[in-house]
Amino acid sequence: MKTQLRSSRVVIIGTGAVGTTTAYTLLLRERVSELVLIDANKEKALGEALDMNHGLPFTGGVKLWAGDYSDCADADIIVIAAGASQRPGETRIDLLKRNSVIFDSIVKSIIKYNDHAIILVATNPVDILSYVTLKKSGFPSNRVIGSGTLLDSARFRYLIGQNKEINPRSIHAHIIGEHGDSELPLWSLANVAGIKLEFSEQDREQIFNSTKNAAYEIINAKGATSYAIALALDRIVTSILQDDGSVLNVSTLLNNYNGVSDVYLGVPSIIDGTGVRQVLDLELSDQELLQFQQSASKLKSEIEKLEL
Ligand code: 2OP
Repeated sequence: MKTQLRSSRVVIIGTGAVGTTTAYTLLLRERVSELVLIDANKEKALGEALDMNHGLPFTGGVKLWAGDYSDCADADIIVIAAGASQRPGETRIDLLKRNSVIFDSIVKSIIKYNDHAIILVATNPVDILSYVTLKKSGFPSNRVIGSGTLLDSARFRYLIGQNKEINPRSIHAHIIGEHGDSELPLWSLANVAGIKLEFSEQDREQIFNSTKNAAYEIINAKGATSYAIALALDRIVTSILQDDGSVLNVSTLLNNYNGVSDVYLGVPSIIDGTGVRQVLDLELSDQELLQFQQSASKLKSEIEKLEL
């Protein structure tokens, strides 16, 4: 396992709330040596790059610029955060039509210059758009990763931490399935130090509903989510660049997994320099298995409507 960061280039496509906050997070944490911002609105990418570059005297030596698709050539990781985001009241699936069209040209532009990078998808609906990226890029599935339920699991751990008055970093708990309305909590596996966590029915309901509806709540309040997703993306990027074998609930292609095949869903996966090295088998209760399969069916029926 490497401990030193190697020289690395991350390209971020889309300089909206998620793309720019992710760039800023990677910049502050000095995760990469080169950061490139690309946006259909070149002016916006230029302005963001300029603003961040003016902070460099206060941070480290990251080289950052507003570029174009030819800069993907030397990229190790390409983060796609471009596209429409939810307006108050919209679901993530409501964005599918608009964003799958955008993805067609984005992925074509990437593969014109790069056949070796890991593509990390953050745009919603993230599971379906990761699948779209897989099909359109022709990349192996280990190199097309969606941010999945990593953020939902972080929200879940935060809320459990609040409930139990324990630091969320010490809580192991997973949300799996769609990054969206059909996701499910794995209460049967929630633990601290290997000790199963017990909750009243009322607490379970309250914690899971707050987890699942967090994005709606934040979007209603401030128009978009950005900070926690940026930290989740930073975590995935860092696990890849450090080749560290972290277990993260990313969205990945599933085949013969708990009765589910040919769909991207969030599940615990080992992440290293190759991307998704391995998907971990989960022992689900009958109820969890049913919900997981329903989440897969929902996304598969949306995928069937697309021309891939
Ligand atoms: C989130 O969960 C909107 O998918 C985004 O924050």
